[in-house]
This record gives sequence, C-alpha cells and structure tokens, in this order.
Amino acid sequence: MKIFNTKQEIKAFLTSIKEENKSIGFVPTMGALHEGHLSLIKKAIKKNDITVVSIFVNPTQFNNQEDLIKYPKTFDNDKKLLESVSCDVLFFPSVKEIYNDNISSEKFDFDGLEHQMEGKFRDGHFNGVGTIVKALFEIVEPNKAYFGQKDFQQLQIVKKMVKKHRLNVKIKGCPIFRENDGLAMSSRNTRLSKDYRAAAPFIYKILKKARKKFGTENAINVTEWVEKQFKKHPILDLEYFTIAEEKSLETIKIKKSNKKYRAFIAVFAGDIRLIDNIRLKNH
Ligand code: PAF
Repeated sequence: MKIFNTKQEIKAFLTSIKEENKSIGFVPTMGALHEGHLSLIKKAIKKNDITVVSIFVNPTQFNNQEDLIKYPKTFDNDKKLLESVSCDVLFFPSVKEIYNDNISSEKFDFDGLEHQMEGKFRDGHFNGVGTIVKALFEIVEPNKAYFGQKDFQQLQIVKKMVKKHRLNVKIKGCPIFRENDGLAMSSRNTRLSKDYRAAAPFIYKILKKARKKFGTENAINVTEWVEKQFKKHPILDLEYFTIAEEKSLETIKIKKSNKKYRAFIAVFAGDIRLIDNIRLKNH
C-alpha cells in the first residue's frame, strides 16, 4: 500500500493512474476503522482499478471541541486493516496540508437538507463535511466514492453537493454494518463505557419496533411512542427521533404510498453521541 501525506505527491501518483485509463474508487474516512469502513473499501476494490482511502479527522465538522480532541486515533491498526484488505493507496494528510493556516469551512447551500436533523443539533457540521469532501474530491478526482448509510443525511448532502457543483464522481451509498447485538458500527463505539455499551443496542431494538408500528400507525404516534420508551430508559438520553422522507429529509406527519421514508435517531450514551436510522415500509 502506498501512503501519501501531501496533496502534491498523491496527485502526481494518481495522474499517472488516470493516464493509464484506470478507474479510481475513493473511501474518505476519519480513521478508527471498523468492519463498516472495510465493507466500503472492499466494495471500492471490487469495482475499481485503484482504491484510495483517506484518513483525516476533519476539525471543521466538529461542533464540539471535546469530541474532536477525544475522537479515537488508531493509525497503526488502521494501516494494518487497510493492508489486510489490499487497499492500494492511503492518503493521510496533516491539518496544515489541507487547511494551511485557515481552519474554516466554506458555506454551502444544500437546498435545506442541512437544516434537518443533525443540522439542527450540530451547528456548522455540514459546512465542514462539504468543505472536506469537496477538497478531497478535488485532490483524488475519483470515479466513484463510497459512503455509509449510517450517516444517511451526510450521504444525501454529498449527493446534493456533487449535483450542484457538477462534480464528476458517482456517489455510492452502502448499507449500515452492525455489531451482533444490532448496534450500528461507529468509531465512537470504542469510547463507550461498559454500561453504555451494554445499553446501546436498545437504539436499534427501538428502531425495529418503530418500523413495525409504522406499518399500522401514523408518524406522530410512532414518534411519541419512541420518545416515551427513552424517557423510561435509565441511562440513554434521546436527542431526537424523527420519521422523514428520504429525499427531502423533511419530517412527515402523514405517509404517502409513493414516497420512501426512514426513521432517524440520535441518542446520548453519557457524553458519546450515537446516531442510527432504518428504512421504513409505508404500507
Ligand atoms: O463520515 C465520515 O467519516 C466523515 O464525515 C467524512 C465523510 C470522512 C468527512 O470527514
């Protein structure tokens, strides 16, 4: 696996790859890799001639400085995992390499997607995501880029950015990977204490029950039911639960048969914030 730390080096290498008419698959990450990331990387490897993974803990997308400082950093293990799946290229730049001395975000208009859910609770988060994903796309110039559906809002926002900015890359959304007990895989899971880790599968259990209820009940009832379950929970704190239309991400009250819906949730397990979502059937 080739490792590059500078834009100049990776660009020079990828230019030679493009000259050979080879396709580039790209998986941007913030490191602390787990099976979920590896599933994206394996998909990229299967579908492209060369796979590039980036590891960059992007400061501009953290609305909470403590979360940024405590974000797990496991470079040696990440490198081993990438080698174990035969990843071709790792891009591992410093903050200075990406932002120079100006650690700030561009302002984006994602047609309102940025104001829903995570956007309401994580000020500036999606401007930070847009800034880094666009910068990485400009460096790597991939044919395809792979994103997990756990961050479903991020996936929709990246698709919107690609469309609005006419970027020449296909965005591939990939299914959520779960631990055996149902907890959605996340780099932040490693920071959960024993008690919070034991409690966290409750999130997916409730999502599955909500999906079942949505078959016979309206969105408001299902939402109130979920809120009630978390009020009774001894240690998990619900930040939001909402049922939204997949494309607009707008919360719905009444379901329509020609629309696709998802339930989205954010929960605090102590000071660790966990998100998850599930596809719903609307009949
Ligand atoms: O999903 C993530 O890990 C990050 O938001 C991303 C896409 C790598 C941008 O920093």
